[in-house]
Amino acid sequence: MDTFSNTSYQCYFDNAATTRVRDEVADKIIDVLKNNYGNPSSTHSYGRPSKSLIELSRKEIAAHLNVSSSEIIFTSGGTEADNLILRSAARDLNIKHFISSKIEHHAVTHTLDELEKDYNVKVSFVNLDENGMVDYDNLNELLSNSKDKCLVSLMHVNNEIGNMLDLERVSNLCIEHNALFHSDTVQTIGHYNIDLSKIKIDFIVASAHKFHGPKGVGFAYINKSSSLRPLIFGGTQERGYRAGTESVHNIVGMSEALNISIAKLDEEKTHIYNLKQYFIDKLKSSIKGVKFNGCSGDMKKSTYTLLNIQFPIEQSKAEMFLFKLDLKGIACSKGSACQSGSDAGSHVLNEVLSGDELNKVSIRFSLSVYNKKEEIDLAVNEIVNLLN
Ligand SMILES: Cc1ncc(COP(=O)(O)O)c(C=O)c1O
Repeated sequence: MDTFSNTSYQCYFDNAATTRVRDEVADKIIDVLKNNYGNPSSTHSYGRPSKSLIELSRKEIAAHLNVSSSEIIFTSGGTEADNLILRSAARDLNIKHFISSKIEHHAVTHTLDELEKDYNVKVSFVNLDENGMVDYDNLNELLSNSKDKCLVSLMHVNNEIGNMLDLERVSNLCIEHNALFHSDTVQTIGHYNIDLSKIKIDFIVASAHKFHGPKGVGFAYINKSSSLRPLIFGGTQERGYRAGTESVHNIVGMSEALNISIAKLDEEKTHIYNLKQYFIDKLKSSIKGVKFNGCSGDMKKSTYTLLNIQFPIEQSKAEMFLFKLDLKGIACSKGSACQSGSDAGSHVLNEVLSGDELNKVSIRFSLSVYNKKEEIDLAVNEIVNLLN
């Protein structure tokens, strides 16, 4: 439901959790499901077109990143791609020291926890400033002081507070210290142009459902000079990197979603950027004591798609607040979606907020091209009503 009227409406503000599939993408997926059911590994006339579709998708995705097609490995999503890269780096690339941050997605933090146990690697966390921004001088120090070959794993955009990493700066530090660089780019692929011929990053990852594509598919970019080995063993699909029959319709849907997102990037970015600015201004003028967590209120330091808002009411009222917004047709999220249903508070907010601030209700609103200014007006009006 995305229709909007004065009497009944649904406003979807949880695009960092997942996005609506574009109609053109859904059409393409259905077409492939109906007409290309051959197994891409089969050499007969049913299999060959499926194989061609996969290879065309790989070529198109690689072209957007300015890399070679052979460097794109299809996976089930961002989590698998992060696991593949980090696990294999410990096991096959002899990385003994990982440098990361405490506010990475759990696909990274929990994988690093396991690597400490399984491979006895050292994990260091870079200092963050009071808004959760990486302290680049401290990263330099950690790299300088390391006796072992390092891999730096820092996300491009934080999925809860929207903070943006300076990829180029981290890349230069990694080059200087001969370290490998992995960046979780799940929140930025399809929303930013990333030219890997200009910035040296060894590994990045993507997830189609974050840029209006289907769920259950993503990719890892693995620089061709890195000799990673697979996590999943079996057939020789994905040149042995990732066994298992390829999800042809999802892969085609992902490349179609990326093609459209990149073709419309400037236009859609302007629309969403303006909505976010409008949202910030409206909240500031309507709610006394409202704050923005991390750097999300700073248009220069955060992504244009996400705002993490701290309201001047007690944390104990958070569930009820979200529930009431939901009843009013406003879908947003407390922390990141991966944690909803569990009692653990957000590890990101725990890291960047003071005790007092943690006692306030924080809610993430994440925007897409399908949002409208009227929806922001409605959301702010409903929030103001709930606060009064
Ligand atoms: C930054 C980040 N990394 C990884 C993931 C996991 O991606 P997927 O849902 O494709 O496994 C997410 C999803 O929320 C994310 O936001």
